[in-house]
Amino acid sequence: MKRTLEMTRVNANWGEFYKKDISEKLPFFTKEGRLYDCLFAQQFNRRLLTHLFKTADALRDITQNKEGMDYAGGLLSHIRAMLYFVQPSTRTFLSFLNACHILGIRTSEIRDTSTSSEVKGESPEDTVRTFSSYVDMIIMRHPTPGFVEKTAWLMNRTDRPVPIINGGSGKDQHPTQALLDTYTLYRSFNGDMDNKKIVMVGDLKRGRTVRSLTYLMRNFKNISLVFVSPEQFRMEPDILEFLKRHNMPFMETADFMSVMGEADAIYMTRIQDEHDNAGESKKVDYSPFHFKAEHLKLIKKTCVIMHPLPRRHEIEVTVDEDPRAVFWRQERNGMWARAALMAYIFDVDKKIKY
Ligand code: NCD
Repeated sequence: MKRTLEMTRVNANWGEFYKKDISEKLPFFTKEGRLYDCLFAQQFNRRLLTHLFKTADALRDITQNKEGMDYAGGLLSHIRAMLYFVQPSTRTFLSFLNACHILGIRTSEIRDTSTSSEVKGESPEDTVRTFSSYVDMIIMRHPTPGFVEKTAWLMNRTDRPVPIINGGSGKDQHPTQALLDTYTLYRSFNGDMDNKKIVMVGDLKRGRTVRSLTYLMRNFKNISLVFVSPEQFRMEPDILEFLKRHNMPFMETADFMSVMGEADAIYMTRIQDEHDNAGESKKVDYSPFHFKAEHLKLIKKTCVIMHPLPRRHEIEVTVDEDPRAVFWRQERNGMWARAALMAYIFDVDKKIKY
């Protein structure tokens, strides 16, 4: 189904639209059968994921020499993008920026509301609408849950819509992180994504990466999830409901050691204390949720250790030398996966042959 004028009229009220079930919203963020705004991990299906992973693999192959780099750099040289990142970011920002440059997209950036007209009292909605006067795509990270979606909703109602890509929205979603995480699993497992046990560890309540990654795991067969967290930071009920609805087995525990030996992938996360209201994080002993060098002998030979980064102490630094520690590769995979996604959104993916 595609977005129509009728849909735009019916969805005129943001508050009502926001509350709708995701399945009802998705057509609004799709154009000519193709993902247009990338807002939620639920927008990816297995076919699209595999296509994007193969496209990303092909792109890294092509760009190994100057000729190939020049070819890739011509694919979207007619496109300009805005990177609006008003929450701290190193990797997501840099990997998007460099993914844009690989495809020839020219970029502008705002990284702090204090340098935009928001300090003069302009609403965030008017600020983002301004970007669309100058650029052809907005990639954004914002602390307010739902605001990235609202931007896409707003933009799709104007006469100059531009695609919006979610680079992290509050505590709710980080779909392109899930994309690169899954791409990392795909490369680590040589494309064999089914029948895996994924152990996610840490502050699962407030981490958006684990939420989005859980949604993506639905696309593969016989995946079981193990959520390891302190009692205070257990995975939110909406995600557990999602798993039940889709008959995906999961368990919750605070005993990391007891489950690490069965894992095909261990996904570590840091404590998200920027979301504290009353110093909740300080009351938790996070050390049982650390991966230490001594744990290496307890995990499978084929298990991969992942982390969206930044890390604090969740993974002991000496673990980095073990070939099963893939988080630095994961970080670089982000650039290729995001480049593949943007090539797809702008319909030049078929020019990257695999
Ligand atoms: C994550 C994020 O911003 O949610 N970082 C990232 O994008 N690589 C994870 C985190 O900050 O803990």
